[in-house]
Amino acid sequence: MNTIAIIGAQWGDEGKGKITDLLGQHADYVIRFQGGNNAGHTIIVKDKKIVLHQIPSGILHDNCTSIIAHGVVFEPEAFWHEVESIKDHITVTPERLKISLNATVITRYHKLLDAIREGNGKRKIGTTGKGIGPAYEDKIGRRAIKIKDLFDKELLIQKLQIALEEKAYLFEHFYKTDFPSIEEEAERLYQYGQKLFAFVEDTFSLIDKATQEGKKMLFEGAQGVLLDIDYGSYPYVTSSSTGAAGIYTGAGVTNGVVTEKLGIVKAYTTRVGEGPMPTEISEEIGHMIQTIGNEFGATTGRKRRCGWLDLPSLKYSIKASSITSIALTKLDVLSGLDELKICYAYEIDGKEYDCAYPGLDLAKAKPKYKSLPPFKDDFSKDNQYATELNEYIELIEQTLNIPVGIIAFGPERDQIHLRKKYFH
Ligand code: GDP
Ligand code: IMO
Ligand code: MG
Repeated sequence: MNTIAIIGAQWGDEGKGKITDLLGQHADYVIRFQGGNNAGHTIIVKDKKIVLHQIPSGILHDNCTSIIAHGVVFEPEAFWHEVESIKDHITVTPERLKISLNATVITRYHKLLDAIREGNGKRKIGTTGKGIGPAYEDKIGRRAIKIKDLFDKELLIQKLQIALEEKAYLFEHFYKTDFPSIEEEAERLYQYGQKLFAFVEDTFSLIDKATQEGKKMLFEGAQGVLLDIDYGSYPYVTSSSTGAAGIYTGAGVTNGVVTEKLGIVKAYTTRVGEGPMPTEISEEIGHMIQTIGNEFGATTGRKRRCGWLDLPSLKYSIKASSITSIALTKLDVLSGLDELKICYAYEIDGKEYDCAYPGLDLAKAKPKYKSLPPFKDDFSKDNQYATELNEYIELIEQTLNIPVGIIAFGPERDQIHLRKKYFH
């Protein structure tokens, strides 16, 4: 087992950063393949809290090279803020981090468009406001600025002219707002390009070589399958392929290479932003989970909506990403609650569904719950849990038909039990 994909199996924030950091200590490469600085991946080491947005969560390990592959949308200014924010813990050097010359650049026009669309309230998605959707629109529309374009100012101006043609009209006549001039944006991006030059590489060939050499690779997904542009609760999704399929296009490896797809699952459900969430709890217990779990977005600080574990959605994520095992996180948050429920099916228009699928109208889903005995466990003994906690884990394994390979019971690096070996 030399390649492992870390895939969020819910609506993001499942604890991918923590698990990537854990397995990253054995990896040669940790690779981000999609998304951008909409991600917020938290790693806690002793009393240090590190939140990574664009930089892969392998960066804390000396042995490991981090790669931002071509499927990522990259924001140069935010990148340097991030480097600055972690400088007391780690120095980000071109030896430790490689950025694809083909990654798509997020410009100020993208952030402005994102902000205007969200702000006018007509079709609010509840985005992170980082310009992610508009940047991917330009990529698919074949007018994006790529990292390699940042090094030639004349070329950059030409490309920005193409990219801005329609947007300028929208800003002036439709949204009636000011926007940065092309010269100003070109100069800004060019200067960032100069600072980035040493980090930039053909990461496709780097990953290809690593594959040929049998190196240990960890593909770090951002967001989660239920936010995937194709598989998620559209239109309340992000604009990239967040599942395992994103690895093939976003990092340039094909199916057979990634043998283990580790789905990261929070022991309950959270969601930030708009969109349906069948198991959301509006009563006090939801508030308790939010408070005990400290459920605030790592990127925007917004409160995360909380609910019970949603097995129909998980069954679907597992199919959609061919997930082979699970890391179940934040069990400590449920430990000690007086009530424990799990959603095993939805009822929609009088019909029962035990597995979601694309196009199922989750806004109409009435969750069917099974009540379970609550558990109390201090997680001090490896793989020996309270009977009730075992019941919870076994129910998840049986329903989803895959093993829970890791359980996590606290935010710190070592608050974890391995029930299965990863990276032999
Ligand atoms: P990611 O986006 O999937 O990397 O997850 P986030 O970092 O956005 O959110 C997960 C939050 O839960 C972070 O604050 C983590 O420090 C924290 N966390 C991760 N695993 C556990 C756990 O097992 N228990 C508790 N209490 N917190 C955890
Ligand atoms: P990590 O990697 C949770 C959500 C936003 C919004 C939708 C679209 O930390 O798990 P976008 O800015 O991407 O256009 O927003 O997706 N979202 C996330 N929710 N975790 C994330 O990342 C997210 N990244 C985006 O809240 O609902
Ligand atoms: Mg997060």
